[in-house]
Amino acid sequence: MLDKVYTAVGSPNIAFVKYWGRRSGAASNLPNNSSVSMTLDWRTKSLFTVTSIIFSKKLRNDAFYIDGKEDRNPKGAKAILDSLRKRAKTRERALIVSYNSFPRATGIASSASGAATLAVAASKALDVKLNERELSILARESGSACRSTIGGFALWKVGTRSDGMDSYAIQIAKPNHWPELVDLICIVSRAEKKVSSSEGHERTVKTSTLYASRPKIAEANAKIAVEAIRRRDFHSLSEIIMKDSNSMHAAMLDSRPPIIYLNDKSRQIIEAIEELNRRSDGNMAAYTFDAGPNAHIIVLRKNISKVRRALAGIGILEMIESGPGPGPVMLDSGAVSLINPRSLEPTRDKDAKSLLDKI
Ligand code: PMV
Repeated sequence: MLDKVYTAVGSPNIAFVKYWGRRSGAASNLPNNSSVSMTLDWRTKSLFTVTSIIFSKKLRNDAFYIDGKEDRNPKGAKAILDSLRKRAKTRERALIVSYNSFPRATGIASSASGAATLAVAASKALDVKLNERELSILARESGSACRSTIGGFALWKVGTRSDGMDSYAIQIAKPNHWPELVDLICIVSRAEKKVSSSEGHERTVKTSTLYASRPKIAEANAKIAVEAIRRRDFHSLSEIIMKDSNSMHAAMLDSRPPIIYLNDKSRQIIEAIEELNRRSDGNMAAYTFDAGPNAHIIVLRKNISKVRRALAGIGILEMIESGPGPGPVMLDSGAVSLINPRSLEPTRDKDAKSLLDKI
């Protein structure tokens, strides 16, 4: 019998309060502080990751293709598969093919979205039934991906246990709690980052003096952000989003050698938003940056055009809008499959692109 392809679609998340720095000597990716995020909406068509997987006795090794290129060292993805194989008591290898609708490794959390869709598709393929908490812990093999398994607004609880069983994401609110809240992503560079987030986490914890105060600050910020989301209090949320992003980037800059993800355009965006907020009655928008120069502007939908006007002239390459989304789901592999189950090869690049148009 032919082995079956399983396909899932999902989306990145944007952290309002950041995860940066891991506890040492513990299970994989245990953070030093809680973090808070909004899972973006793959239904907007401009911001999604589709991942197909097939397990087969005919495969000798796992193989990963991301955006048409083989990735020979996808650590988080490999750990997800190994963990699932252990539970399913199988040694079958897998072929994984994933496409992002947006540039990867630029601070738009493509790895989070890739790992969350992989966790969903692979657990289905191996018939491993996971509850929400188990799925989040599985995706945590790839760090902040544990928040992308949750729809709407998520809190990744820091936890205290060294086995990590109490460090996972929970839903703070469903996407329809605050559909007016939008992430306006401003692409200012499509270049891949020079310092991977994995290396960045480690370097900051080891070398930044400022980082010592970061867990306490971020923990307090997370509480404020959760409360602001619950009350739909834009001013309070926007203040904490900007403060927390700047706090994380300050610790990065304080590392040796310094980690600098922001560029001149990122800084111009910060100034433009600060200026817009100064002229407004209460904040109009908040900027936040992950491990890359591309800005995420959090704004209420009714104010998007004012923000766009404030940013005109900076030379932003592309803007992508997304509100809160539902989290990853399985797709019908009859309709969208990025793998040819007969040849056990990825679908040709050109054909994959036209398949993705169907999502
Ligand atoms: O999941 P990682 O290891 O790529 O780390 C993500 C770190 C940030 O994106 C910078 C912050 C966050 O919480 O998403």
